[in-house]
Amino acid sequence: MTGVLDFVRIPHSSPSSAERRQEILSEPGFGQYFTDHMVSITYTEGVGWHDAKVEPYAPIQIDPAAMVLHYGQAIFEGLKAYRQADGSISSFRMDANAERMNRSAERLAMPALPTELFAQSIRELLDVDHEWVPAAGGEESLYLRPFMFATEPALGVRPAKEYRYLLIASPAGAYFPRGVRPVSVWLSREYVRAAPGGTGAAKFAGNYAASLVAQAHAAEQGCDQVVWLDAIERKYVEEMGGMNLYFVYGSGADARLVTPELSGSLLPGITRDSLLTLAKDSGLVVDEQRISTDEWREKAASGEITEVFACGTAAVITPVGRIKDHEGEFVIGDGEPGEVTMALRDTLTGIQRGTFADTHGWMTTL
Ligand code: PLP
Ligand code: COI
Repeated sequence: MTGVLDFVRIPHSSPSSAERRQEILSEPGFGQYFTDHMVSITYTEGVGWHDAKVEPYAPIQIDPAAMVLHYGQAIFEGLKAYRQADGSISSFRMDANAERMNRSAERLAMPALPTELFAQSIRELLDVDHEWVPAAGGEESLYLRPFMFATEPALGVRPAKEYRYLLIASPAGAYFPRGVRPVSVWLSREYVRAAPGGTGAAKFAGNYAASLVAQAHAAEQGCDQVVWLDAIERKYVEEMGGMNLYFVYGSGADARLVTPELSGSLLPGITRDSLLTLAKDSGLVVDEQRISTDEWREKAASGEITEVFACGTAAVITPVGRIKDHEGEFVIGDGEPGEVTMALRDTLTGIQRGTFADTHGWMTTL
């Protein structure tokens, strides 16, 4: 398999003006604006990855018979580039995203993208669009969205022989419009996200398509997000829409963290994995285990569960304040962001922004 490739660079003939860019960067929201360029790499069976380009961000042409439009071979990743205080730009655990994309590719019978090529695509894009990385010191970053889909025009149900890998970038502020405020969640028993043996552990586009009606149902119940339960018993907590979950038992030096174990049907989040390490570093006990909705309800009522938070690249760390299902609703603590939640958030974002020591070698200068 090829590693790095020579990228052809096609500059944008009329990139956004500095004024327009500043306007966007001052209030980027999430996923609404895109930088001037994108990366494109083509895969052909028997040839491998070829035709690597950095080109103007623009609509792409796709054959109506492209297999992604019919049988849905489409996977993606999400990671961020952070401006450091000295003006340089760094990414967080980029190799973990590259490796996860390849695990997703394997599950969807798609080709692997060499991890060096994944890293190179990010460097190439940042080389031309570095001015789109928001300033240091705030919550903002540049969200990177690498993705791959089947382009071969054919209607036989089989893995495609041609694919495109694209990388686009979007300046990002808070994922939730209200910032670091606790969200409310609906425990979904009507809909299931993923079943054993299915695609839940892959960052597969179809998982998100299948989640939309459940998310709408959660919204109808007055909740911000849906929490997925296991497919078999509809009893054990799996994860949230685009985030993993953590439960804090007890408080202070005696606090213990619990996150649902990787069941095979939830996404192995890189933030989740990083927090396992950071929590242990800070002396907290952390367990990966099954946690039922009954335990959540009972231990929230008894005060044993003191905090709950969701974590992911886009959402960073977001407290969960109110939980609702067909049995009623309950709150966590006083419904405000908890101490352990906010301490872990400070440590994680501090490492990402270069204000805390990166003792695990997670940051890469781009
Ligand atoms: N779970 C789902 C379904 C997701 O889409 C994401 C986002 O990528 C996560 C969890 C969190 O993963 P990560 O921390 O790698 O962003
Ligand atoms: C991310 O956190 O990167 C995600 O992919 C979550 C969501 C935007 C799909």
